[in-house]
Amino acid sequence: MPKLIVVTRAGEETEIMSGNGLSVMEAIREAGLDELLALCGGCCSCATCHIHVDPEFAAKLPPMSEDEDDLLESTSDRDSSSRLSCQIPFTPDLDGLRVTIAAED
Ligand code: FES
Repeated sequence: MPKLIVVTRAGEETEIMSGNGLSVMEAIREAGLDELLALCGGCCSCATCHIHVDPEFAAKLPPMSEDEDDLLESTSDRDSSSRLSCQIPFTPDLDGLRVTIAAED
């Protein structure tokens, strides 16, 4: 099962094992990390699932849609590592992925 490492806003690290075809957002929520609000449930319409992804994995991520790009633009904590976690399927090739939950808007 692939491993996901999540860093909370307080800097605490949690390791999650998830191989059920979930998105990164769903894997984080299922692990009980409710700091990631994900208010729209993964419909790419809220930006409350904003994370920063370890640049080492950037090339393995699916391309960003225009909708995701627009939503991220509305956040205050956007940088080049920003993604919406509901738009990233947590596939086995992302084993070891390290993400940090973005600041709250
Ligand atoms: S959960 Fe709303 S945009 Fe990802």
